[in-house]
Amino acid sequence: MKAIEIRNKYLNFFKNHGHNVIPSAPLIPENDPSVLFTTAGMQPLVPYLLGEKHPAGTRLTDYQKCVRTNDIDEVGDNRHLTYFEMLGNWSLGDYFKEESIQMSFDFLTKELGISKEKLSVTCFAGDDDCPRDEISANCWKKAGILEENIYFYGKDNNWWIAGEEGPCGPDTEMFLDTGKEPCGPNCDPSCDCGKYVEIWNNVFMEYFKDKNGYSKLKQRNVDTGLGLERMAMLLQGKETPFDTELFYPVMKKLEELQKVDIIESRRIIAEHLRSSMMIIADGGRPSNIDRGYVLRRLIRRMIRHLNKLQIDLKELSTLIDINVQNLKEMYPELETNEQTIKDVIIEEKDKFVKTLNHGEREFEKEIKRLGENKKIPGEVVFKLYDTYGFPPEVTSELAKENGYEIDLKEFEELFKKHQEKSRLGAEVKFKGGLADQNEKTISYHTATHLLHQALRTVLGEHVKQCGSNITEERLRFDFTHPQKMTKEEIKEVEDLVNEEIKKDLKVTCEEMSYEDAKKSGAIGLFTDKYGDRVKVYSIGNFSKEICGGPHVTHTGDMGTFKIKKEESSSSGVRRIKAVLIK
Ligand code: ALA
Repeated sequence: MKAIEIRNKYLNFFKNHGHNVIPSAPLIPENDPSVLFTTAGMQPLVPYLLGEKHPAGTRLTDYQKCVRTNDIDEVGDNRHLTYFEMLGNWSLGDYFKEESIQMSFDFLTKELGISKEKLSVTCFAGDDDCPRDEISANCWKKAGILEENIYFYGKDNNWWIAGEEGPCGPDTEMFLDTGKEPCGPNCDPSCDCGKYVEIWNNVFMEYFKDKNGYSKLKQRNVDTGLGLERMAMLLQGKETPFDTELFYPVMKKLEELQKVDIIESRRIIAEHLRSSMMIIADGGRPSNIDRGYVLRRLIRRMIRHLNKLQIDLKELSTLIDINVQNLKEMYPELETNEQTIKDVIIEEKDKFVKTLNHGEREFEKEIKRLGENKKIPGEVVFKLYDTYGFPPEVTSELAKENGYEIDLKEFEELFKKHQEKSRLGAEVKFKGGLADQNEKTISYHTATHLLHQALRTVLGEHVKQCGSNITEERLRFDFTHPQKMTKEEIKEVEDLVNEEIKKDLKVTCEEMSYEDAKKSGAIGLFTDKYGDRVKVYSIGNFSKEICGGPHVTHTGDMGTFKIKKEESSSSGVRRIKAVLIK
């Protein structure tokens, strides 16, 4: 069964069980600067898991585009992917364990035709925070899972939370027995020898974790996630996702083009190409920080491996074409953005080629400095890497060619320290993340709507939001406008927002169809990411905007609005940074 068929079967199955199909959120989270990319289907749904009403109801299903980059250096083995698709279904205070488990069982056995004997499941063993999950185990038994295939584990295996704080709960995971020999007498689903492969995770999200520990959420939710690439691989009896139709055309082309045969390199290229294309299609661009840096690393790593296979970098354009053709049915955005994808990847390639040339010159200078010494210190290798972006393996190759050795041990130590630092950074970013909806960020969210309308009133209706980013300290708002705003215009916008805040306007929310929302004059990002039903937030009679919320109930307590900066963001797009002062 092809991946797209699995996706369609999944969405249809849950539709037939009363779920509304909602669109995938973009890979780059909106209004959430604390996470780099969308990493799970639940992430865009956090407000609703916490109790906000979702316009599509209490039973939802979707496919969600995800990027996880903790494993970037492991891509190339036979299972790690940076981009993947997660199929999910949610109960927002609707059904709970029994119905969720029955549906999963039915989908796996009846729709996908997996025999129940091959399925194992794991449940939460219980601890001081939450009791043992006998209910789930009994539901599995009732559904038809063999008793000997039900396992219990602790928080390490059977508890799910995104990051450190937020909605969470015990989960029950489903595993497929691949039929391989057990690796030993204790081989079970917690073992990663490859006999048991995890295929689906149902989280019973009824807790919330913060610094003070666990508390109960307002409602009992179900959050599930099924990795599409892995399921396609298993159902097709393939060893790796790279052998499925998702990657096969690019893998085959690489085999034709290569002058050196390295399977790991082909996998890395195929994986990073798809991942970069998906990120670019959703608006990501290479840079030296945060998500831009991840994209840069993906593209550069891909190019290094193309070099390793001695493939002409001009072929990048052909490889992109092949991927667009192969994946456009699943991701039409690849076709719509094909030219941009090519431009971004090729520009980054040109930059990297320059870096490589520059690095080579620096390498030669360093060698001269060493004189008779034939061992290049790790510090130099690290400097070339850190300052010039010159990859250590390239330094190592050049060193060899010139009869030098490198102090790999010293380099690795320095590199490890550097990695720990950046990993720490990434984790900290994630921490504040998902559940970070406090009074301040909510006020900034409402202020963004006021600003959007005020800009349209002062500058004209051509003003459209192109991006927004909120922290506890400020809001950032990108919008279309051809020239720099004058001082007077900035003042006028500020005054208008403050007038509306002072009026203590009531903020109300209505649900309607997307078409009605458009007809009613509500503004919003008119892209296809809205579902059929949407929420429209009105602030008095001043602003009306399609949005998921949450917002303040009255504008009165928001504080005084002040624009700190107005600058160019990109061609035809201006950026405002503004604060609320209390
Ligand atoms: N949110 C859960 C996961 O990512 C379903 O595994």
